[in-house]
Amino acid sequence: MPARGANTASDASSSASSTFDRLLYGNQQTQSQPQRPGFVIEEASPEDEAIDPGYTTWARPFTMSARTASASLIPDLYTSLPLIRDLLNTQTSQVQDKTIHECLPFLSGAEANIQQLNAYGVPHLARKRHVQFLHKNLRKLPAPYVAADASRPWMFYWVLAGLHALGEDISEYKERLISTIRPIQNVTGGFGGGNGQMSHLAPTYAIILSLAMVGGKEAFDLIDRKAMWKWLGALKQPDGGFQMAVGGEEDVRGAYIAVVILTLLDLPLELPQESPAWSREGATFLTGLPEWVGRCQTFEGGISTKPDAEAHGAYAFCALACLCIIGDPHVIIPKYLDVPLLISWLSARQYAPEGGFAGRTNKLVDGCYSHWVGGCWPLIEACVNGPSSPGAGPDTQSSVRSLYSREGLIRYILCCCQDQSKRGGLRDKPSHSSDSYHTCYVLAGLSSAQHKWHFNASAVEMESSGTLSSPYQWTSEIFVEDSQIYDEEDRVRTLHPVFVISEGAAEEMRAYFSSKGGF
Ligand code: FPP
Ligand code: ZN
Repeated sequence: MPARGANTASDASSSASSTFDRLLYGNQQTQSQPQRPGFVIEEASPEDEAIDPGYTTWARPFTMSARTASASLIPDLYTSLPLIRDLLNTQTSQVQDKTIHECLPFLSGAEANIQQLNAYGVPHLARKRHVQFLHKNLRKLPAPYVAADASRPWMFYWVLAGLHALGEDISEYKERLISTIRPIQNVTGGFGGGNGQMSHLAPTYAIILSLAMVGGKEAFDLIDRKAMWKWLGALKQPDGGFQMAVGGEEDVRGAYIAVVILTLLDLPLELPQESPAWSREGATFLTGLPEWVGRCQTFEGGISTKPDAEAHGAYAFCALACLCIIGDPHVIIPKYLDVPLLISWLSARQYAPEGGFAGRTNKLVDGCYSHWVGGCWPLIEACVNGPSSPGAGPDTQSSVRSLYSREGLIRYILCCCQDQSKRGGLRDKPSHSSDSYHTCYVLAGLSSAQHKWHFNASAVEMESSGTLSSPYQWTSEIFVEDSQIYDEEDRVRTLHPVFVISEGAAEEMRAYFSSKGGF
């Protein structure tokens, strides 16, 4: 017998490794549970080795095939090594193999308590524990969190969005949110990450979304809209894009966040005269913006943070959501982006057997991309399908049902991303600890995989008040499948496909400010 796991001794996922080793070497525990869904290991024939010289040490002596026992409804795709492999042995291919090694026991059900699995070999959503975990993230945190001081606004957003997705009432946090953020608003407009910090678009985005979710006059009136408008003017650049802070980096996050703020606060689109982008010709906040976003599409088809950089899933979401605020998805996305190339790049982000998404080429699956990449799909599907007309029913004959594997994503989330210990919360991958960022975005991805979004065009046509009204035309419904791999009790609530907040919250905030008319 070869030395077991020789190259995994220092693996952080030691429990996953040992389970995998148990499966590899077929110990009694696995064999004594024949009803358990899972994969079986067979010794490789010399032919197998001959056609697969790229296998790393941990896998080389064996091949795996899915057990097609009637009890198991786990497709082979999620329990077997990939058929197509990178034959070049590099650090990248090694960490990819290690990740597969880490995920397979969770995907096959070997790592789970058999009672936790449903008929499809999928664990239930540990809702109660995830709720407790999120609440804990807004209590007293241990000393190392001092380093995350500038992320306090984000912690509110991640916890509130996550709790909402899990079906919880978040109103208990309203007062604390308001008293925490009141002192971090700057008189020159916008919010810093903490007391005494300069304004930055990232915490400002987290704060506006959190205020929208808790809702109400007290929360909305806290925002100095006129100062915000002036500050956004200072961030708008003559080339069309937005800086994240005055004098800071100009990137596609800025493009998305700026239009989120403009539309939710119903700010005028005219530029303040002090803006570096102001012109006698009447340039607005939108001048050159979709063109700038279009320049972020790379040769691969994905979107980078700024023109001529590397494509990344998080930036693809920012670019698509930005365009879907400026216009209707089926009109604006094909106008500024090469849609087939983007679809091809997005599709390549979903891996098997893991089922989840990676953020960029040659990188690893990570639960947070369930949203950053997963959240691109409803926007792309609305672009491809065109507008839904009221009463037309959920899926007309010509509309695509799904451009990605919802089953794969749901399996990755429920099998690999849940911390099933008392700690709860959701995570990047099994070897990583849960945190509020991943809990929020994994749940957002689960939500979009469980629902279908429709962009309702005729409502836009009827809307006369005009500007940046596209993001208010989305409606959702449950995504119905022939064989649903999760139980109904494991469904989470919807989050708006563009703003990623509770459904209805954006509409309420926008309506409040629209009704004010001016500052
Ligand atoms: C790489 O991290 C991550 C990025 C390059 C993008 C991060 C950006 C976001 C998460 C979105 C920000 C959006 C807003 C609206 C503020 P990595 O190298 O650790 O991960 P990887 O290996 O998966 O690429
Ligand atoms: Zn992540």
